[in-house]
Amino acid sequence: MSVASIFETMEYGPAPESKEMAEKWLKDRKPNLKQFINGKWVAPKSKKYMVSNNPCSQKKLASVPLSNKADVNDAVNAADKALSGWVKLGGHGRARYLYAIARQIQKHSRLFAVLESLDNGKPVRETRDIDIPLVARHFYHHAGWAQLQSEKLPEYKEIGVVGQIIPWNFPMLMLSWKIAPALAMGNTVVLKPAEFTSLTALLFAEICEQVGLPDGVVNIITGDGATGAEMVNHPKIGKIAFTGSTEVGKIIRRATADTEKKISLELGGKSPFVVFEDADLDSVVEGVVDAIWFNQGQVCCAGSRLLVQESIAEKLYKKIRSRMEKLRIGNALDKGIDIGAIVAPVQLKTIEDLVQKGVEEGAELWQPSWECPSDGCFYPPTLFTNVAPASLIAQEEIFGPVLVAMSFRTPEEAVMLANNTRYGLAASIWTENINLALDIAPKIKAGTMWINCTNMFDAASGFGGYRESGFGREGGIEGLYEYVKLKVEEEFKPEQKQKEVAEKASAQKNGLPTIDKTAKFYVGGKQQRPDGGYMQNVLDTKGNVIGQVGEGNRKDIRNAVEAAHAASKWANATAHNRAQVLYYLAENLEARADEFAERISSALNQSTRKSMQEVEASIERIFIYAAFADKYDSHVHATPYRNVTLAMKEPLGVMGIVCPNEAPLLGFISAVIPAIAMGNTVVAIPSETAPLLATDLYQVLETSDVPGGVINIITGNKDELSKVLANHDDVDGLWNFGSKEGSTKVQFAAAENMKRTWVNFGRNRDWFNPKHVTPEYFLRQATQIKNIWVPYGE
Ligand code: NAI
Ligand code: MG
Repeated sequence: MSVASIFETMEYGPAPESKEMAEKWLKDRKPNLKQFINGKWVAPKSKKYMVSNNPCSQKKLASVPLSNKADVNDAVNAADKALSGWVKLGGHGRARYLYAIARQIQKHSRLFAVLESLDNGKPVRETRDIDIPLVARHFYHHAGWAQLQSEKLPEYKEIGVVGQIIPWNFPMLMLSWKIAPALAMGNTVVLKPAEFTSLTALLFAEICEQVGLPDGVVNIITGDGATGAEMVNHPKIGKIAFTGSTEVGKIIRRATADTEKKISLELGGKSPFVVFEDADLDSVVEGVVDAIWFNQGQVCCAGSRLLVQESIAEKLYKKIRSRMEKLRIGNALDKGIDIGAIVAPVQLKTIEDLVQKGVEEGAELWQPSWECPSDGCFYPPTLFTNVAPASLIAQEEIFGPVLVAMSFRTPEEAVMLANNTRYGLAASIWTENINLALDIAPKIKAGTMWINCTNMFDAASGFGGYRESGFGREGGIEGLYEYVKLKVEEEFKPEQKQKEVAEKASAQKNGLPTIDKTAKFYVGGKQQRPDGGYMQNVLDTKGNVIGQVGEGNRKDIRNAVEAAHAASKWANATAHNRAQVLYYLAENLEARADEFAERISSALNQSTRKSMQEVEASIERIFIYAAFADKYDSHVHATPYRNVTLAMKEPLGVMGIVCPNEAPLLGFISAVIPAIAMGNTVVAIPSETAPLLATDLYQVLETSDVPGGVINIITGNKDELSKVLANHDDVDGLWNFGSKEGSTKVQFAAAENMKRTWVNFGRNRDWFNPKHVTPEYFLRQATQIKNIWVPYGE
C-alpha cells in the first residue's frame, strides 16, 4: 500500500498488539497444560486432553486437561479440606488475599488481555479496556466485602465448597464474578472454565499461587459438559453457580432438585433495545454498536432486539446501516478492529442456521458490502428488519452479531413487545424524556435496565435475570447473599414429629363426627366451591373430625392464579397504603383473638392460654411487616461512572406459598404477610393438618380492605397443589414449607419455566423464635432487584 493510496482511501493500517509474551507463556507450558488442584499443578487422572484453538486462525493454541469424575473428586476434596482454615482466617485475612489478587492481576493485565483475545477471538481493545480492568475491580470490591462481612452480614455464614461453571464469552470476567464473592464470604471454590477458553483461568491459578493463597481454597479444573455434570452431582458441593445456556441451566436445576444444594443461574437473554422518537439518534447508533457488536454479540445481555418507534424507524435503520458499513472486522489482536472472531465453528454454524431461518421466515436481511477474512471464524454484523414479533429470530437467542428490528407506535406497545419473551436479563431504553424512561423502566421485566446507555457493568451493582434468564444476582450486596446461608438454618428441625402426629391422627379417625364447619376456598375475594366438588375432613390431633374443607385441584389453582394476576394493581399501591391495610388486618384479628385461640385449641388439643400466645405472636408479626412495608428500601449503588444506579426492590409478581403445617395461624401469617407487604399477590395453601385457621381468616381479610385477589386460599394436599403451582407458567415465585419430597418435586417442576423457589426440605423453623423468622430474609425472598442505570452530565 503506497502512502498516496492511503491518502486516497483513508484506510486504517493494522495496529497489532504484541503476542510475544502470551506465546512464550504457552510455549513454556508445552506439551500439555496442567490443572490446579490443592495448590499443585497436576495432570488429569483421565489422561485425556482437549484442544483450545485461536478462533481468528483456527490454529491450535494449547492442549488442556479434559477432567473426569476422579479429577473433580480430588478438587472437591481439596476445597473441603481447605474450608475450615479459610473460614478461620476471618474477613480481614481474606480481604488481604483478595486485594493481593487484584493487584497481581493489574500487574499482569496485558498478558491476561492478550491471552484472552487469542483464546476467545474477542478484540484486544475490549479485553484490555473492559474485561480485565473489570476483573481487577471485582477483586478489589470484594476484598472490601470480606472486610465488612461480620459487620454487614452478621447472621450469615459461608455455604462451604462452591462449584462454579462458566461460559466462554467472558472467561476471566465470569471467573471474577464467581470467585471474588465466594472467597470473600469464606467459601472455597472449584471452578471449571468453558472448554473453548480455559487458558486465562489457568493463568489466574498462577496468580493464586503467586500471592500464596492457601492450598485448596481455589481449584481450577478444565473440561467439558460431562466434567461440569460431575461437579453438579458431587455430594460435597454445597452450591453451584452457573452461567451459560438456559438449556444447561434447566438440566442443573433438575439435577439438584432432590438436594439442598443452593444454585444461582445466569442464563440467556433476548434483551430489548427500545428507542423512542425523541432519542438522540447518533448516540443510539453508537449504543447499538455496543449492544450487539460488542464481543461479536456473544453477550448474554446483548441488546439483540431493536424496538423502534415507527416515526423514526427508517431513519434509524439507515443510520445503523451506514455505521455497519464502517465497522472493521479482523484479527482480535489488531487494536484497530471493532469485531473479532466467533468463538468456535459450532457457534458460527448456529448463527448461520438461525440467520437462514430468519430469511426463510421473510425478514429483510442486511449485511455490509465488505467481505469477512476467510481464514478464521468470522461472521459479519447483520441487521434484520421487518421482523415479526413471534418469529424464531425474534424469540431465540442467536448469540452472534445479529440484530433484529421491530417497530412500535405507543409506549404501551413498546412495553408489550419488550416483555414478549421468555427471558428477562436486561433492557436498554433510549429517550431524552426522563419521565418516559423512568415510567418504562419498572414495566419491563428484566434484571438490569440501562437508560441511554447499554452494557454497563460494575462490581457494586447486581446483575442477573428474571424468568428464563435465571435467578440470583452477581455483584453488589445482592450478589453476596448467593454465597452465604443463615447461621440458624442448622437449628431447623426435621418434619418427622409433625408427620407422626398426622399419621396417628388419621389412624384414629373413627371418632364420632361433630362437624361444625365446612370451609370453601377464597378466590378473588369471594368464597368458592371446589371445582371437583370434593370435601375432606379436618381432624384434631386426637383424630376427631372438627370440620371440613375443600380438596383443591389443578383447576382451582388456575382460577386462583388468575385472580392473583387480576389483583396485580396491589404492586402499584403505595407502600404506605399496603402498611395501612396490614395494620387494619392486625386490628381485626385482635378483635377476634378469642375465637382464633379457641380454634387453635380445638385443632391442636392444647390449652387456650398456649393458643392465645400463637394469636398474639401472629398479630405482632403482622405489625412487623406493616412496619417494613415502607422501610425495606431500595439502594443507590456507588458505581464508578457518572450515573446513579438504582437498585430497585420489586415484588416477584404472583407467588405460590405453601404454608407450614405446624403453627397453623402463625405459620400462615409469617409466610404470606411478608410477600404481600412487598406488593406480591399470593395463592396460599394453608396447613394441611389444621387448615381451618386459614379459612377462618376470610372474614378478617374482607373487613380489613385487603383487595380481592391479593390473598387467595386453596386447601388440599400440599405436595400435589405445590407441584401444580410449580408447573404453572404464570406463577413467578414459589415457597414451599413442606415435606422433603414436596420440596424436591417443586424444584424439579420449576426447572421448566425457571421460577424462583424457596423450599425447606422438610426442616422446620420454630415460627415463634424471632431468629428463625428474620424479616429481612423473608422480604428478600419476596423481592427481586432491578438495577436501573441512569447516566447524567454531558
Ligand atoms: P453451555 O451452557 O453448554 O456451556 C456453559 C458451561 O457449562 C461450559 O463450561 C460447559 O462446559 C458447561 N456445561 C455444559 N453442559 C453441562 C452440564 N450438563 N452440566 C454442567 N455443566 C455443563 O453453553 P455452550 O454450549 O457453550 O453455548 C451454547 C449456547 O448457550 C450459545 O449459543 C448461547 O446461546 C448460550 N450461551 C449463553 C451464555 C450466557 O452468558 N448466558 C454463555 C454461553 C453460551
Ligand atoms: Mg480457544
